[in-house]
Amino acid sequence: MKILVIGSGGREHAIIRRLAADHPAPELHAAPGNPGIAQLATCHAVPVTDLDAQVRLARELAADLVVIGPEAPLVAGAADRLREAGLTVFGPSAAAAHLEGSKSWAKEIMAAAGVPTAAAVTVTGREQLEAGLDRVNPLGDEPFVVKADGLAAGKGVVVTSDRAEAVAHAESVLDAGGSVVLEEYLDGPEVSLFCVSDGTRVVPLAPAQDFKRALDQDEGPNTGGMGAYSPLPWAPEGLTREVVRTVAQPTIDELSRRGIPFVGILYCGLALTRRGLRVVEFNARFGDPETQVVLERLTSPFGPLLHDAARGELAEGTELEWSAEAAVTVVLASHGYPGTVRTGDEITGIDAAEQLGTHVIHAGTALEDGSLVSAGGRVLSIVGTGEDLESARALALAGTEAIALPGSHHRTDIARRAAAEERAGQEERS
Ligand code: AMP
Ligand code: GLY
Repeated sequence: MKILVIGSGGREHAIIRRLAADHPAPELHAAPGNPGIAQLATCHAVPVTDLDAQVRLARELAADLVVIGPEAPLVAGAADRLREAGLTVFGPSAAAAHLEGSKSWAKEIMAAAGVPTAAAVTVTGREQLEAGLDRVNPLGDEPFVVKADGLAAGKGVVVTSDRAEAVAHAESVLDAGGSVVLEEYLDGPEVSLFCVSDGTRVVPLAPAQDFKRALDQDEGPNTGGMGAYSPLPWAPEGLTREVVRTVAQPTIDELSRRGIPFVGILYCGLALTRRGLRVVEFNARFGDPETQVVLERLTSPFGPLLHDAARGELAEGTELEWSAEAAVTVVLASHGYPGTVRTGDEITGIDAAEQLGTHVIHAGTALEDGSLVSAGGRVLSIVGTGEDLESARALALAGTEAIALPGSHHRTDIARRAAAEERAGQEERS
């Protein structure tokens, strides 16, 4: 099987790494890929934004399957264009990807499908703002949640107890011509569950937890994700089944009823609140960096799963198999991320990190005169595995610390709490 993966980030490197582990291994191509991906696939210099060139490349290659990684080409209609050209595509149409592209439309779909989510109001003008804030937070005693309605790479959301800060963020989005979604605050731990769908059926992957804030102890601004782990030893029994039953399947059914079949990954971002599970957000693609840990644990064939979904032929009742090992990833970010990032800094020590037993996923790297340099906000994602979260986490951190990137930063507390709870549980049982 010949597979073309569109994208250039850590998620795409992880997807390609996992595809390369299938038996028999597929022939792998990436557009545009990155220096890490280039070790596993043939990279083609086609930008993520150039849909015409993607279609030309996929046809020239006669790819059996095209997998679209990032949200931007999906929302721009890359899957539609490729399908019109006769290709088999894993990734939703622009209409279906609108679930991620518009938070207000996602709310409408959830309401129609009876999917539990935070109460929300959409605000399109400054004059509606104060009343909107009063409506979602009537007692004024919970944090305010203010979201830009469109795509914002995980950075359009402000959660703050400071009403003035909430207003300022909303006004900056409105003044730029956007609309704003104000939401009820959801407490409780967050879970990311990726569900593969062929437009009708749903096959869940393993749940993971992402760390969205830039700094340890969940301080600092929101980012695209600074680290992740899987499995979740603390998660309630049957969580995955409940999410499929109450969230993913009803959403896929509602879209299908509207003539908008969703073929690809329905990323369910969830909060397990005291009042039950709630959807925080939907995305229309694999999450980054969660993919790095989820796919690390997948032992069932991966390419055939994506291919079956792309053809609308997922087998009823498919159950995937998972390694019992834990996986943890730590993201190494550029100076300034998630604000204005500095790029072009030299990266050294990847070999040393891999000799420790980690593997290093490239997220924002480039080759310049033969040296590997930073080329984005999130630069590398270092993955460690082990028999439990503590051993996986220690390895991922040791690997991260073996790598030098001037001005970089990373979190040191990824999976720390879950690992400690898991170890405490093990001691209690022994
Ligand atoms: P989103 O882009 O909608 O996923 O939001 C990014 C992050 O902001 C989420 O992962 C949460 O950590 C936080 N967040 C979003 N919505 C809420 C909410 N209603 N209550 C609490 N935190 C939220
Ligand atoms: N890690 C969050 C995301 O991919 O949206």
